[in-house]
Amino acid sequence: MEKLVVEGGLPLAGEVDVAGSKNAVLPVLAAALLTREPLRVGNAPRLVDVESMLGVLRDLGCEAVRRDDGSLAVQAPSSPSQRTDWELVARMRASFCVLGPLVASTGRAEVSLPGGCALGGFRPIDIHRKGLEALGARVNIEGGYVIAEAPSGGLRGAEMYLGTAFGSSVTGTANVMMAATLARGRTVIQGASCEPEIVDLGHCLQSMGARIDGLGSPRIEIEGVDELHGPDWDVIPDRIEAGTYAIAGAMTGGRVRVRGCRPEHLTTVLERLREARIPVEVGADWIETQAFDPRSPDERPGPTDITTHPFPGFPTDLQAQWMALMTMAEGRSVITERVYPERYMHMAELARLGADVRREGALALVCGTPRLSGAHVTASDLRASAALVLAGLVAEGETHIHRVYHIDRGYECIEERLGALGAAIRREQAE
Ligand code: EPZ
Repeated sequence: MEKLVVEGGLPLAGEVDVAGSKNAVLPVLAAALLTREPLRVGNAPRLVDVESMLGVLRDLGCEAVRRDDGSLAVQAPSSPSQRTDWELVARMRASFCVLGPLVASTGRAEVSLPGGCALGGFRPIDIHRKGLEALGARVNIEGGYVIAEAPSGGLRGAEMYLGTAFGSSVTGTANVMMAATLARGRTVIQGASCEPEIVDLGHCLQSMGARIDGLGSPRIEIEGVDELHGPDWDVIPDRIEAGTYAIAGAMTGGRVRVRGCRPEHLTTVLERLREARIPVEVGADWIETQAFDPRSPDERPGPTDITTHPFPGFPTDLQAQWMALMTMAEGRSVITERVYPERYMHMAELARLGADVRREGALALVCGTPRLSGAHVTASDLRASAALVLAGLVAEGETHIHRVYHIDRGYECIEERLGALGAAIRREQAE
């Protein structure tokens, strides 16, 4: 098992290029099942989760490779397998995105109930089921598999509401929107996800010949077509990775330019950084934190409350990283997690670094302290592990972050890229 070792106290400085979006590329890869023509995806990040999705597609009979130029090439066979291997799907929740395309293009899909990040609570799939049933599929759960069967004439368009008690569902919208592209007639999804990753998926589907309106709004309309063509698509930059590196610059007081990102995908985060007195400049495709001394009393980050919401609200995938920043703020901040109410496992590990954090029901209270001290900590999920790396950058001494496989799922070469910004970070075998 590997760990990351971070020596704290060094300000970062320099430029980091953002990789392609993990949460855009994964459903786009699943869209390969909607056509029998080849799909090419550019700007695809080199992540464990991407390899997992390629494995699922190969298991279904697709040719799925990464070319020498880094792009991904996937081509579904004329008759893909209709059943996924549970072990492959259990490894990554997003594999569940093959459900909609598979049932729409072959008439049946047997996909294992998803695994993936344990964000402190149960992660249901009722919205996925509700949407596919609205399109006429019969959906049952047997032996740990979701079995979806289209009616004899194929899926048919329908009007539906896919909002959950916690807002919209990202992959729920992805699954149903992909299925609806091949359904007969018109589908209207109310309560749809507005996430940039869903907009990117929708644009990719449009490039394949799908007829979709309303992308980026809670109401998406899809007019079904008979067939789709293979796309040649470059996914958007990863806004969560961009936000993570911007917060790294903010925490260390370094001048860090995050290049090749979409600042308009991080409006709320940028607003909160400014509220926290972090000097930030923004260009067309870059974000730059300015140098300052986070230790001096009049320059320490200001305590700033956040509440997570679906886009355009503050993203839940940056909540843990924001908490890491607030552990060094000059005062008390309140963090409210509305998307995954139990997504606070990183608090115990931040406390091991000396952070003054505590739960108050659905809220997390963070009282900023002037210093953190390095310790051994354990990552629990992808974004929590990123928060621990950020805290390690400012904690005095060495911080050992165990179970680093979590971070490799969503951050491309994180130690090389932070190292290039001046961080003292290395990967080692854990004892
Ligand atoms: C996507 O997960 C992302 N993953 C997550 O990022 C992200 O945290 C999440 O959206 C929220 O933004 C991918 O895109 C691959 P949801 P998803 O369905 O689609 C509830 C990361 O770190 N819900 O939008 O699985 C659910 O419990 C990962 O990159 C239902 O109630 O999340 C949650 O409270 C972690 N019923 C809320 O909706 C359902 O059928 C949002 O979940 C589905 C979801």
